[in-house]
Amino acid sequence: MKPAQAPSTHGRLGVLLPGLGAVATTTIAGVMLARRGLAPPVGSLTQLGALPPLREGGRALPLRDALPLASLDQLAFGGWDIFPDDAFEVATHAEVLTEKHLAAIEPELRAVRPMPGVFYPEFVRRLHGTHVKRATSKAEMVEQVRDDIRRFKREQQCDRAVAVWCGSTEVFRTPGEAHRTVASFEDGLRRNAPEISNSQIYAWACVQEGVAYANGSPGLTVDCPALEALARDRGVAIAGKDFKTGQTLLKTVIAPGLKARFLGVRGWYSTNILGNRDGEVLDDPESFKSKEVSKLGVLESILPRDEHPELWGNLSHKVRIDYYPPRGDQKEGWDNIDIFGWLGYPMQIKVNFLCRDSILAAPVVLDLALLLDVAQRAGLAGVQEWMGFFFKSPMTRHGAAPLHDLFEQQTRLYDTLRRLARTTEV
Ligand SMILES: NC(=O)c1ccc[n+]([C@@H]2O[C@H](COP(=O)([O-])OP(=O)(O)OC[C@H]3O[C@@H](n4cnc5c(N)ncnc54)[C@H](O)[C@@H]3O)[C@@H](O)[C@H]2O)c1
Repeated sequence: MKPAQAPSTHGRLGVLLPGLGAVATTTIAGVMLARRGLAPPVGSLTQLGALPPLREGGRALPLRDALPLASLDQLAFGGWDIFPDDAFEVATHAEVLTEKHLAAIEPELRAVRPMPGVFYPEFVRRLHGTHVKRATSKAEMVEQVRDDIRRFKREQQCDRAVAVWCGSTEVFRTPGEAHRTVASFEDGLRRNAPEISNSQIYAWACVQEGVAYANGSPGLTVDCPALEALARDRGVAIAGKDFKTGQTLLKTVIAPGLKARFLGVRGWYSTNILGNRDGEVLDDPESFKSKEVSKLGVLESILPRDEHPELWGNLSHKVRIDYYPPRGDQKEGWDNIDIFGWLGYPMQIKVNFLCRDSILAAPVVLDLALLLDVAQRAGLAGVQEWMGFFFKSPMTRHGAAPLHDLFEQQTRLYDTLRRLARTTEV
């Protein structure tokens, strides 16, 4: 790792969000409100966190003092969507934020207008995009997105940019031939390989343009050998996948606690109702499959069957998501956890999380954008495993098993932040 550079006191950072929906607009609006002092950036590690002291009596150093993070005033937002609505219209329809909050920043939000999206509809079958690019090949699509990025940076006077995928969950796919190498991917782009998804076209264009990229949804996107190799070659940081925000966040907090006390877990049944557009997309079984795979992985890793077969060997884990329009973005998650204790006596835990999906995701988007920027400027390229803290299905290098326990992830995160910190006093 090269030494981190001095704090970024100059230069604007472009934050590009493919998919200008509820999460993206809640992030953008939140930054606009926070930088005017109209609302607090609750939930954001970069805005509120500090590096814990290494020695007793040492002082915790706020991350914004320890790391060369872009400030909220230095961020310029842009993005793509397959519908033409500006960020104010989208945020109004999403009904995440109050009219009072939106009114305070209306002109600024209205200025964020999506660039036309890349849309091969077979990857998101519930949506019928109207604001889309036309091209004869996927290779040409990549070039159009690259042009968009250059134009955006020029117009917004950004010297660098990062991207966080906030688009709809794409249908479940495993890596295909085109995903194997940089050459096979480029060939696939030219021959319109069906396995190259919309999100991968954005990702390829971003990495080619030196734009760090995080994947907030469970689709493959940057999680394939071709994208990983390109990112390493270009010195670009990538991370993913699927923001860890609600039910899975709590799961990865509760399960380590049960493990620490050697309590048995016989079953974990999780169900959700949500009524936003994300819920509508997940109503398609193929998109749901992507989410299900992402949500199911966590328990096996935290409560390994082999380590204590008598405690966790028979664990039955189920995850359900139901699209239920009346709830909008205010998702409700239930967990029923069947545990057992001393002498095998059974007990139950019920968790009812009445959450707000985009309110939980927005600070994660902001943190990913700022930390990816710092990481890339410090010379970190390729998959950023330490960012697993933010994801349900953390990407790893060389097929290593991911960590899911939030506290282990936090340790890994702080270790890297410490190395990235410009001060040696912490
Ligand atoms: N807590 C959370 O909200 C949370 C947690 C984990 C993951 N996610 C993921 O974040 C993503 C965004 O969630 P959301 O609630 O904002 O959904 P949303 O439906 O409100 O927004 C997604 C947007 O992506 C757009 N889109 C779809 N395909 C596109 C394409 N090819 N190019 C450009 N735009 C495209 C849609 O038109 C829509 O505006 C989803 O994939 C979701 O699964 C959200």
